[in-house]
Amino acid sequence: MKYGDLDLHARGQARFVDDLPEPEGLLHAVVLGSPQAHGRIVRLDTGAAARSAGVHAVLSAADIPGQNQIGTLVADEPLLAAESVDYIGQPVAVAVAETQAEARAALRLIELEIEALPAVLDPRRAKELGELIVPPRTFCLGDVDSAWKRCDRIVAGRADSGGQEHLYLETQGSLAVPGERATMRVVSSTQSPTGVQRVIARVLGVAMHRVEVEVTRLGGAFGGKEDQATAWAALAALAAATCGAAVKLVLSRHDDMTYTGKRHPYSSDYRIGLSSDGRILAYEVEFYQNAGAAADLSPAILERTLFHCTGSYYVPEVRATAYCCRTNILPNTAFRGFGGPQGMFVIEAALFKAAAALGVDAAELQEKNLLNEGDTFPYGMRARGCTAPRCWREAKSRYDYVEARRRVREYNRTHGLQKKGLALMPVCFGISFTNTVLNQGAALVHVYTDGSVSVSTGAVEMGQGVKYKIREVAARVFSVKPERIKVESTGTLRVANTSPTAASTGADLNGRATEIACRAIVQRLKQAAAEELGCDDTEQVEIREERIYFAGKETELDWQSLIPRVYTRRINLSAQAHYATPGIYFDKTREKGEPFSYHAYGTALCEVTVDCLRGTYEIDAVKVVHDLGPSLAPQVDLGQAEGGIVQGIGWLTVEEVLYSEQGRLLTGTLSTYKVPDIHLTPKNLEVQFLENTENPLGVFNSKAIGEPPLMYGLGVYYALLAAMQAFRPEEDLPVRAPLTPERVLMTLYGDHWTRLKGLDRADLRVVPG
Ligand code: MOS
Repeated sequence: MKYGDLDLHARGQARFVDDLPEPEGLLHAVVLGSPQAHGRIVRLDTGAAARSAGVHAVLSAADIPGQNQIGTLVADEPLLAAESVDYIGQPVAVAVAETQAEARAALRLIELEIEALPAVLDPRRAKELGELIVPPRTFCLGDVDSAWKRCDRIVAGRADSGGQEHLYLETQGSLAVPGERATMRVVSSTQSPTGVQRVIARVLGVAMHRVEVEVTRLGGAFGGKEDQATAWAALAALAAATCGAAVKLVLSRHDDMTYTGKRHPYSSDYRIGLSSDGRILAYEVEFYQNAGAAADLSPAILERTLFHCTGSYYVPEVRATAYCCRTNILPNTAFRGFGGPQGMFVIEAALFKAAAALGVDAAELQEKNLLNEGDTFPYGMRARGCTAPRCWREAKSRYDYVEARRRVREYNRTHGLQKKGLALMPVCFGISFTNTVLNQGAALVHVYTDGSVSVSTGAVEMGQGVKYKIREVAARVFSVKPERIKVESTGTLRVANTSPTAASTGADLNGRATEIACRAIVQRLKQAAAEELGCDDTEQVEIREERIYFAGKETELDWQSLIPRVYTRRINLSAQAHYATPGIYFDKTREKGEPFSYHAYGTALCEVTVDCLRGTYEIDAVKVVHDLGPSLAPQVDLGQAEGGIVQGIGWLTVEEVLYSEQGRLLTGTLSTYKVPDIHLTPKNLEVQFLENTENPLGVFNSKAIGEPPLMYGLGVYYALLAAMQAFRPEEDLPVRAPLTPERVLMTLYGDHWTRLKGLDRADLRVVPG
């Protein structure tokens, strides 16, 4: 199992939901999504569909035996639309047939009449109409109102960031197999086995112990399967319970893109005040989050936007307000960074504009305001173990920022139509679920009599290598060869009440639980070994590289011979353990607390070249110094960092989620939605891990890696903007992501074109947003 499942993936032997052997009499389910963005269901007739060939059932809201409710944070999301529809693609009915083709054919016979209601797509408009999913949240530090008059320079503006399709390689899918006495076994492509279990129990009206959820691995997730795997699993289970047969529901790529939520687009207004020497004195920001038609995880994502509103900087006076706006598009959901990137995008916009206003290099402002040990975040926590300055300094010197800046300026002086842009991007990302309750993990460890070890935890393997890290933890605690350890699938029978594998915490939480369980077994092994050796001092026993030592001397015992003897002594060779992150809390009434176990830090240097005639660009370099602590798996972490960076670049450059004015997704295929390819990968992508760093709060001093590197992509955005600014030094460029080549062109020539054609600037949008 080198690097987790990698060998299986390389050979095409890794099984996903759709690859599982099909149970006898398997039926297939296909979902009918609403064709209207908003409306009242006037008529739903499934009679003809139910009578069509091969069809066993056509299910709608009326067929749900338990509650028609899948909302996690807010009970506002029916599994199947009942009276109204709130977005295009909202599940209305499910056809269950012997083949997928028959189920699809049946969908076309469903008669659905909807009386259209006005649809709202814009979050600012939704806020005006009072369409907020939860009340607004405001984080305050100091007294921002009185700070403005002390500022020498105040800059205000707007920044918009777009959505992002997860595009995990494995689409959403689930296989539900009914068992005896109203039990249901479900294999689901979910990050949240327990979340799926809970909702299926609720929908079927049975106790949670009737529902077993199993996850072998996911073909990617990126947050898209934290909450949004649930509906498909619940629909499969509903169909299986109704038909008394196994049911598979696997979304086609097109259905997956059309029916599942994405990263939240945000529109934000900011105001930043600085002293004449470039210190940030005050920052005010309002975030309008486009949540879509249901809460999903939006309120939690909104919270993380607030937690990261000041990015990697210390700002003494802050007021940040965030609105969770209900609109008639797909319910948006978790996506790597979980609202953090959207918050950081805006403070970087503010610094970019402030630097232009002060006539200084943006990096100068960034450096002057960078977080230091002990600085207070707007939520009251202080930066501890803060390696932001070290990463910044090391990135600057290792990648010779001063020389790069000289070279870029020289290039821009000597090139008319090609311009280079440079940006430094510091990242600070809080590690822990912002929802304190979720910061718990568990493990179940068995040592078998032949000395092999089985480890089950709450962590789901989704390509991030968490199983590899868990194995490393067990191997280190037992001091045995990693080959002895097998990390199992994730199943609710073995590990209950799992938190989603999310928030970059999978290895931290479940690794710690594994560590505790293994230590408990080691303690028993040592006791048994002491007895075997006829000594009474357990503390003198040590297991080192599969050998048993006593008082520092090798004994005749080794792992292989000890384990069966421990069994013979009737000593428990299994352990279950639980880990809860200590010391964290958050008081929502004051919006203050210590929500994070620790922060991840790093800095990227980004360089781009823009062809200002064509609007195309190349990413010359992204070079990073990232604080990872001593890694449990350096190759895995490097892969996570590189993948995250390219995914972040994609979000801010070529990935563009567009809806029509009727609320129809226009980018639901791979011909209309562009993801980064090899050409968009930085020509020089370098990730150096900071040396000599320790994180006593992580497992074996390591740090979480899943999400933080994505935000280095922001540096590419601001490097592109810098290059465009070099071409149009007089223009106040809009801050609006993604910066597709088309957008670059429109931005550089927008005014010229409008004058030429007598058009309004808005008319230049090729597709109505
Ligand atoms: Mo992740 S975006 O916290 O599933």
